[in-house]
Amino acid sequence: MINAIYHSYKPDLERVEARIISRLDSYSPKITEISKYLLSLGGKRIRPLMLLATAKMFGVNPITDEIINACAGVELIHAATLLHDDIIDQSPTRRHKPSAYITYGANQTLLVGDFLLTRAFGMCSKMDTFVITETERACIELTEGEIEEKTLLSDNPRTVEDYIEIAKRKTASLFSLGATLGGYIAKADTETVAKLREFGYLAGISFQMIDDILDVTSTEKELGKKTGIDLKQKTPSLVNVLWLQSGDQKAVEFFSDSFNPTEKDSEEAVKYLKNSEVIVRAKEIALSYANQAKEMVDDFDKGDIKTIVDYFVTRIF
Ligand code: FPP
Ligand code: MG
Repeated sequence: MINAIYHSYKPDLERVEARIISRLDSYSPKITEISKYLLSLGGKRIRPLMLLATAKMFGVNPITDEIINACAGVELIHAATLLHDDIIDQSPTRRHKPSAYITYGANQTLLVGDFLLTRAFGMCSKMDTFVITETERACIELTEGEIEEKTLLSDNPRTVEDYIEIAKRKTASLFSLGATLGGYIAKADTETVAKLREFGYLAGISFQMIDDILDVTSTEKELGKKTGIDLKQKTPSLVNVLWLQSGDQKAVEFFSDSFNPTEKDSEEAVKYLKNSEVIVRAKEIALSYANQAKEMVDDFDKGDIKTIVDYFVTRIF
C-alpha cells in the first residue's frame, strides 16, 4: 500500500528533492559536500510526504510551488537534526553508511546542521507569520525534547507519560508541522488545522514508539545500524522505560548507575527482550497511538494519510 503512495507522489517528491538541492549552494564547497552526503544516505522523506498528502486531501492539485517549498523546509530541518543528533549520540552509522559525524568530524557536521537550519528558515521567511510561528515552535520543541531526554537510570525511572512528552517534542513536532502546514496552505479551516496538528503529534509519537521497538526486534540489516543502541546508551526509549517499570530485577541492574553495558551486554538484553511481555506491551501502546491518530482524521481523510500511519505500524508486525 505504501508503495502505491510513494508511486503516486513520486513526481512531487522529486520536485521536493530538487528544491532541497537548489538550496545547498555555498561559498564553502565542504558545506555542499556534507549536505549532499547526508541527503544521499536516503531516507523515507516521510515528513514531506505527510505534508503533500495533507495538502492534496484539501484539494491542492497540482501541488503548488509554495507546498514544495514548505516540504523542502521541513526536510531541511529534519536533515539538520540528524546531523546534530549523530554528534550527540556519537553515532557511527546512519542508514547503513558511516554517519556524517564519523566521516567529517563533529565540528564540520555541527556547522552544516546550522547551515541547513538557516536555509530552512530562509525558505520559511518567505511565507506568512503562521507558517513561521509554527516552524519556530517545532524547532524549539526539537531542542527541548533532545535536551530533556536524559539517561534512564534505576534511581530515576520514567513513566510512559514522561516518555510521551519527550517523543512529542523530539520526533512528533516535525510530523505535526508537516500535517499542519499541509492543511493550512491548502486553506483548511482553523478547526481542521488544529485537528491536523493533533493528528501529526499522535502519528509522530507512534512513529517514535515503533522506532524504539525496532531497536530490539529488528535486525542490523533492516535497521541500517546496530540493534540494541538504545539499551547500550540507556536511552529512555519506550521499551527501556517499560522494562524498568516492570520491576524486573534484571532491568534494575541493567539501568543501575554503576553498570556500563558493553556491546555484548546490550546484545544479550536484546535477546532477552525480543519475545518478552515488554515488547508486547510496547506494541499495544504504539498501535493505540497510531489508531488515535487515524481517528483524528476520520472525517476528512481520503485514505492517503491513514495509509502512511498504517505503514509505520506494519514495520513492527
Ligand atoms: C533522532 O533520535 C533525533 C531526533 C528525532 C531529534 C533531534 C533533535 C536535535 C538534535 C535538536 C536539534 C534541533 C534543530 C532544530 C536543528 P534518535 O537518536 O532516537 O534516532 P536515530 O536512530 O535516527 O538516531
Ligand atoms: Mg540518534
